[in-house]
Amino acid sequence: MLDVSTASFIPRKITGPQEAAAVLAAEGAAIMTGLPDEETAVAMGRAIMGDRAVRCGTQFEATKESGRVEAMKMRAQPADRRGRKRDAGPAEERMVAHNDGFAFGDYAPDHLFLWCERPAASGGDSFLIDTARLLDLLAADPGSTALAHFCRTVDIDHSEPNYPQGGFSPIVRRTPSGRFQGRHHPYLAPVEGPLESEHWTYVRAWQDAVVAARDSGPMFRVGPGEMICIDNYRVLHGRDGHSDPLRKVCSIWGWSQDAVAIPDGPLDIVVPRIPMAS
Ligand SMILES: [Fe+2]
Repeated sequence: MLDVSTASFIPRKITGPQEAAAVLAAEGAAIMTGLPDEETAVAMGRAIMGDRAVRCGTQFEATKESGRVEAMKMRAQPADRRGRKRDAGPAEERMVAHNDGFAFGDYAPDHLFLWCERPAASGGDSFLIDTARLLDLLAADPGSTALAHFCRTVDIDHSEPNYPQGGFSPIVRRTPSGRFQGRHHPYLAPVEGPLESEHWTYVRAWQDAVVAARDSGPMFRVGPGEMICIDNYRVLHGRDGHSDPLRKVCSIWGWSQDAVAIPDGPLDIVVPRIPMAS
């Protein structure tokens, strides 16, 4: 199987918002240190987006308990007519690599800031996958060029079960503002129709490539007061399993003028309705 481990990477530590913005643009992620509280972390997220910042705020606090409650609410929701069912998985499991806000399609934030208040006593290490790099690796491999072509050209369904997004788009695309976007989450599916089963082959191959990048690449530990700053369009993230009830990470979502669409208000990840276009 193709070696895709180099699509996973450990972000560099940087010192100020301008440097963060430059490293984010070039490498897709960076780590900011010395942020003592959530308010400072949110302000730093906004500063990194600079003049182009539109919205920035804490979307949710990830703890073992909040994850458990969220997962319980999702499990109470029915499967969709294709049998797809929402399932967030327990804290003890390694996460599926994803872009945050994937349920909201074009309204997903283009920036993500994961501020660590308290790491897990053990486990819970982070991973990042650069989808631009992963696509390059696939495109350069004779056995994977068809997959790379599919990812770039064929519309798929990026919605979560029962929460349609009103449109379809390829796994990888250039946004109108010129940003690279590569997407992955647990519920990717082909568009329904005569080509569905053929397209499943490629969607599953993309999922396999992302899992391979996650499990063969490096992971890293984030300390208290550190924040992973992520190009949420280009880079997938997640964490390893842990069982520490005291671990706390804030997921701060940022929309800049580069975002494809910007919601007017807060988004609900338990009931992810797509905002009305305004
Ligand atoms: Fe996330």
